[in-house]
Amino acid sequence: MHNLHFCKPAKYFLKIISIIALLFMISGWELQAQDEGEQLFKVCAACHTIGKGKLIGPDLKGVTERLEKEWLVKFIINSQELVQAGDEYAVKIFEENNKIPMPPNNFTTGQVDAVLAYIENYDMAVKTEAAADEHATEDQYVFMADTENPFSNLQVSFFISVIIILIALLDLLITRIVKVKAIHIIIILISAAVVTEVSILEAQNLGRQQYYEPDQPIQFSHRIHAGDNQTDCKYCHSTVDESMHAGIPSVAVCMNCHNVVKEGTQTGKEEIAKIYAAVETHKPIEWVKVHNLPDHVYFNHAQHVSVGNIDCAQCHGEVKEMDRIQQVNDLGMGWCVNCHRRTEVQFINNDFYRSYEKLHEQLKSGKKTIVTVDDIGGNDCQKCHY
Ligand code: HEC
Ligand code: HEC
Ligand code: HEC
Ligand code: HEC
Ligand code: HEC
Ligand code: HEC
Repeated sequence: MHNLHFCKPAKYFLKIISIIALLFMISGWELQAQDEGEQLFKVCAACHTIGKGKLIGPDLKGVTERLEKEWLVKFIINSQELVQAGDEYAVKIFEENNKIPMPPNNFTTGQVDAVLAYIENYDMAVKTEAAADEHATEDQYVFMADTENPFSNLQVSFFISVIIILIALLDLLITRIVKVKAIHIIIILISAAVVTEVSILEAQNLGRQQYYEPDQPIQFSHRIHAGDNQTDCKYCHSTVDESMHAGIPSVAVCMNCHNVVKEGTQTGKEEIAKIYAAVETHKPIEWVKVHNLPDHVYFNHAQHVSVGNIDCAQCHGEVKEMDRIQQVNDLGMGWCVNCHRRTEVQFINNDFYRSYEKLHEQLKSGKKTIVTVDDIGGNDCQKCHY
């Protein structure tokens, strides 16, 4: 038996295809390096901006021109090592930044390169995305209207690499169109490297769940209850202004209305019947938690809702318009810290803040015009971390 037989032009054609595939992968590789820098920078974004001013650490705009590459690599991997070794500049910025140690990063040199390239190219990237980006990062109080989950470059490179591996395997084992086996092997190895790299980056991102919108055991709609029927959030989330947790209502709260309301306009009796089933079987409804901060972070609703007077929508988006709850903010450290830097506290005539004498003096003398959450120590590490 012969293998599939191809005439000469077909062979050339196939060779050209495999070269194109190779070129494609190399360009995918570059795209990915860009993506990698962007992904890695999320860790840094908690404390640094690029061109938007100081957060906990200095603004990193132009840092690659200001400082030696070699020094940057050492500093980013373990800044305290340089400080302790007495490096003049490291000690200087450490002291200028109230001796807040920058946490070490377990990066390879390649990863540091990717972050630095991202910082260096940020201005260009921003200009091209300007309009869309400004909404998302400039203003804490504008909520991302686009609820679609963007299909990222990373995911595209992942799927294309998997397909290329399959095609290469198919040809290696069955069709045997390309005779030189080394070509298959090179293609498979490169694609496999892309696949693992993407998996690692995605895993690093797993903790973050912006746009998370799980199915719930009952199709409960905030749009119908908090929107159309204008039920106050606190009617159901009754502990939100006095305790750390907002709380999820028990089935008894649902029954206050649903012993009368037995049918809905969208789902008829079907979904409401699940409430009655829960009452009869004495089994609580197992709602899936949408927002999840890591255990090492302390967050208190009463502090924000009652003391800080912050509206639910500033953090949770337009819940009144959501049929299904979606997490609209990333709940990352940068998100918390940024709002604390911008938001003014109700400082004057507030007994709660009488003890901040220095700030009161600065206000009187005109040295300060507003007092932010940051000024009262809201961005001290131990305020948010156990
Ligand atoms: C928890 C906060 C925090 C995180 C996260 C963080 N940094 Fe820093 N960074 C600082 C502080 C604070 C300084 C000032 C130096 C010091 O106090 O040691 C600094 C200084 C720097 C400097 C020197 C800047 C200058 O103008 O001299 C660079 C570069 C830098 N960081 C890069 C990074 C990169 C890249 C990341 C992410 C991989 C990162 N940092 C993550 C807090 C942080
Ligand atoms: C400053 C931002 C902020 C504001 C304002 C805020 N929330 Fe939250 N909310 C959060 C965060 C962050 C979580 C996740 C908490 C966690 O995982 O520990 C959360 C979680 C929740 C939960 C899940 C249950 C729980 O208690 O953890 C509910 C319900 C909730 N919020 C309702 C509300 C309502 C209702 C309001 C307005 C009265 C409100 N939130 C105001 C940030 C906020
Ligand atoms: C303050 C009164 C009130 C409370 C409390 C209440 N509901 Fe409702 N609910 C209504 C009304 C009114 C409707 C009918 C709206 C419509 O579809 O016209 C409704 C409709 C529904 C529907 C059907 C929606 C549709 O259109 O098909 C479901 C499911 C539902 N509620 C679940 C719940 C659950 C679960 C709870 C408890 C967490 C709850 N409700 C608490 C007033 C309430
Ligand atoms: C009729 C009762 C009811 C009202 C009114 C209500 N909620 Fe809820 N809320 C629920 C229930 C039940 C859940 C759990 C199911 C879900 O996530 O959809 C929930 C979940 C949430 C969550 C997600 C919690 C998590 O798992 O992280 C947020 C945020 C939230 N509500 C905010 C609000 C806000 C803001 C309002 C007012 C605009 C409001 N709710 C009004 C019953 C209510
Ligand atoms: C929308 C703006 C906003 C966001 C987002 C926000 N906060 Fe706050 N936060 C405030 C305000 C305003 C106060 C001051 C309340 C007051 O007057 O004491 C505050 C106070 C605090 C305090 C008490 C500070 C002190 O000095 O006593 C802690 C802790 C805190 N926030 C943690 C967090 C965490 C953790 C997150 C992110 C998960 C977060 N906050 C997100 C606005 C915000
Ligand atoms: C206003 C609240 C707040 C303050 C202040 C704060 N953090 Fe965080 N931090 C967070 C939140 C929220 C997360 C979780 C981020 C996530 O899940 O992605 C976090 C995560 C971290 C992480 C884990 C890395 C990561 O990005 O997930 C480190 C390390 C960290 N913080 C260090 C610090 C240090 C050091 C300080 C003081 C300079 C500090 N934090 C101050 C809220 C805060």
